[in-house]
Amino acid sequence: MTKPILEVKDLAKYFGGVKALDGVTLEVPERGVIGLIGPNGSGKTTLFNVVTGFYVPTRGEVWYAGERIDGLNPNEVFLKGLVRTFQIPRLFPSLTVLENVLLTPPRQVGERVLTAPFRSKWEEQEKELARKAVALLRKFGLGEYVRARVSELSAAHMKMIETIRGLITDARVYLLDEPAAGVAYTTARELFTFIRRLRDEEGLTFFIIEHRLEVLMDFVDYVYVLHNGRLLSEGKPDEVMSDPKVIEAYIGR
Ligand SMILES: Nc1ncnc2c1ncn2[C@@H]1O[C@H](COP(=O)(O)OP(=O)(O)OP(=O)(O)O)[C@@H](O)[C@H]1O
Ligand SMILES: [Mg+2]
Repeated sequence: MTKPILEVKDLAKYFGGVKALDGVTLEVPERGVIGLIGPNGSGKTTLFNVVTGFYVPTRGEVWYAGERIDGLNPNEVFLKGLVRTFQIPRLFPSLTVLENVLLTPPRQVGERVLTAPFRSKWEEQEKELARKAVALLRKFGLGEYVRARVSELSAAHMKMIETIRGLITDARVYLLDEPAAGVAYTTARELFTFIRRLRDEEGLTFFIIEHRLEVLMDFVDYVYVLHNGRLLSEGKPDEVMSDPKVIEAYIGR
């Protein structure tokens, strides 16, 4: 594997007596498409929450691009280029696709009090962002939906929009929480093909929680398996899928 862009060292998160994470060490290589699997309640979403600053860890460290980031708040983590999506897409259904994609970009000139009076400057920047957004939507086959309301889109398209929305912020690493949940098999494969394209063409890195193993395993380079807050197994998809410990954890419950 190439050098890690994201590293988690001995990470723990307790909720009272519940050890949601209990000493997890793993790394995500730059330009990797890495899976994170495990039975319900194994600590996957908690790991994403700690890595992206939504929870303060009980113990352990998180490193991103050579910098220690545990202790930063979610906005600070986001501004560093580490973006997450949620189990349920957080979009504004009544706004258009373009409006949704344009809502998040940080560091917009117009947001700064001092530069706000220089209207022409932020107008120019907004136009530039809109151009970038439309270009990205077209590139990934969503050009016809630019002015459609998000409420009119399929679930798969909503998930693609949420991902593109991160892309416009110049994020480098994406943590996707169940991108294919509730999506038909073929659409799920389209979504993962789209993710692979983003890696190949834009050099992005993906760390993906997914229960749809039959889809996930065809698209990831490497997989980590959590069980009861600990790392149960790791390896290439076929190695992990034939690991008796993994089979046991999934069916032996
Ligand atoms: N905010 C919280 N307060 C208390 N307990 C929590 C909290 N968040 C998670 N937990 C507990 O931590 C454990 C891990 O939960 P988590 O949501 O990380 O699992 P998961 O692997 O994402 O599961 P799923 O596949 O069902 O999404 C569970 O026992 C859960 O009940
Ligand atoms: Mg979860």
